[in-house]
Amino acid sequence: MPQGVVVIGVQWGDEGKGKIVDYYAASADVVARFQGGNNAGHTIVVQGQQTILHLIPSGVLHPHTTCLVGSGVVVDPEIFLEEIETLRALGVNNLGGRVFLSDRCHLILDYHRALDEARESKRGGKIGTTKRGIGPAYEDRAARRGLRVADLFNDNLFEERLRTNLEEKNFLLKNFYHVDAVPVSKSILKYEQMRERLKPFVKDVSALLNEEIQKGKKVLYEGAQGVLLDVDYGTYPYVTSSQTLPSQSALGLGARLPDDTLFVGTLKAYSTRVGEGPFPTELKDELGTRLRETGGEFGATTGRPRRCGWLDLFAVKYALTVSGIRNVAVTKADVLSGLDELKICVGYSHEGRSLNSMPADTAILSEVKPIYETLKGWREDLKNIRAAKDIPAPCLEYLRFIEQYTGTKVNLVSTGADRENVIDIQRAF
Ligand code: IMP
Repeated sequence: MPQGVVVIGVQWGDEGKGKIVDYYAASADVVARFQGGNNAGHTIVVQGQQTILHLIPSGVLHPHTTCLVGSGVVVDPEIFLEEIETLRALGVNNLGGRVFLSDRCHLILDYHRALDEARESKRGGKIGTTKRGIGPAYEDRAARRGLRVADLFNDNLFEERLRTNLEEKNFLLKNFYHVDAVPVSKSILKYEQMRERLKPFVKDVSALLNEEIQKGKKVLYEGAQGVLLDVDYGTYPYVTSSQTLPSQSALGLGARLPDDTLFVGTLKAYSTRVGEGPFPTELKDELGTRLRETGGEFGATTGRPRRCGWLDLFAVKYALTVSGIRNVAVTKADVLSGLDELKICVGYSHEGRSLNSMPADTAILSEVKPIYETLKGWREDLKNIRAAKDIPAPCLEYLRFIEQYTGTKVNLVSTGADRENVIDIQRAF
């Protein structure tokens, strides 16, 4: 692995990034998250045992790695501590000495979750969020009234700002959303009690990471969600509230990227999306159900069934272009086995005209008709394939099509949930 690898998703999240991160983490010294929060859900299966992590980098399952949560991440301290306990129960050791949380991270507090939930329950303008308080926490960060990890350790400031914020949030919760207010004293006490348990993990993550890079350590940057959920370049407003592009990795950690950094776009062999928003290649028929069942397409964070459809390469090419990505890891190719033919979306038409670029207007995006190319399917089960030479010809053709259409290189193909199911196919072409 080069000194830096940034792994992100190039669709609407849930591309199987956890799996690709896990693959590179075997050779990394440091694994770092730079955006999002516990809206993410990275599922990793090691020798049949499944672990889902939402906040702590999934590289933690490799015992030699240092795991960092950068300032670009919004942190729910309760979830952070819960994950630490879960990992300890799984026998993952020495967490105090290798998991670090930036003191600049903004906190997700009770009122952020309450507001997220209240907004989603109110009719009209629903985004279909994970209700984890992500959007409201990023809003407060931009509005300069957020509370950060460092503030937890400043008694007066924490209590005073929490009280001021709750005055406003509780007014909204009670009078606008007509739901229960967040109890002030209880909330203050709860967070103050977490302080001591959090303390060993809090660090100047930016300084630490810069030092590690200087020493030549290998760093893996673990993205969450996907480019089509990016707050600027995604299908706004049906997006998350952070930047999901690979360039965010330097910003969200306050560290320069090593000179030889590889950007890897994780691309699922078909498309899925959770929550609301336009999805041109969505299959609402039996085939969509088949992909959902075969691919286990149920949210790792919320358990919601994911909407499924054909691979939308038109949207993926846009995502790869805005991200500057030239290397791709294709996941879940095994889910497509057994279909006679496969469709790939290579363009959109709108009111009889084909579009040259991804429309910014969500209304147009929800009206476009996908233009498909049809490829031959394959019957073989891919799960036991370990070498590129054994990949069935139509599957190789599918991968080649992705490369040629997007102008990228497919480096890795994942063919099953387990750590073993990754084929390095660079040499196959
Ligand atoms: P939020 O990030 O909870 O505010 O949700 C905003 C949108 O992003 C919703 O459509 C969510 O379903 C989606 N979303 C957030 N995180 C993930 C993820 O990790 N995978 C897939 N979709 C996500």
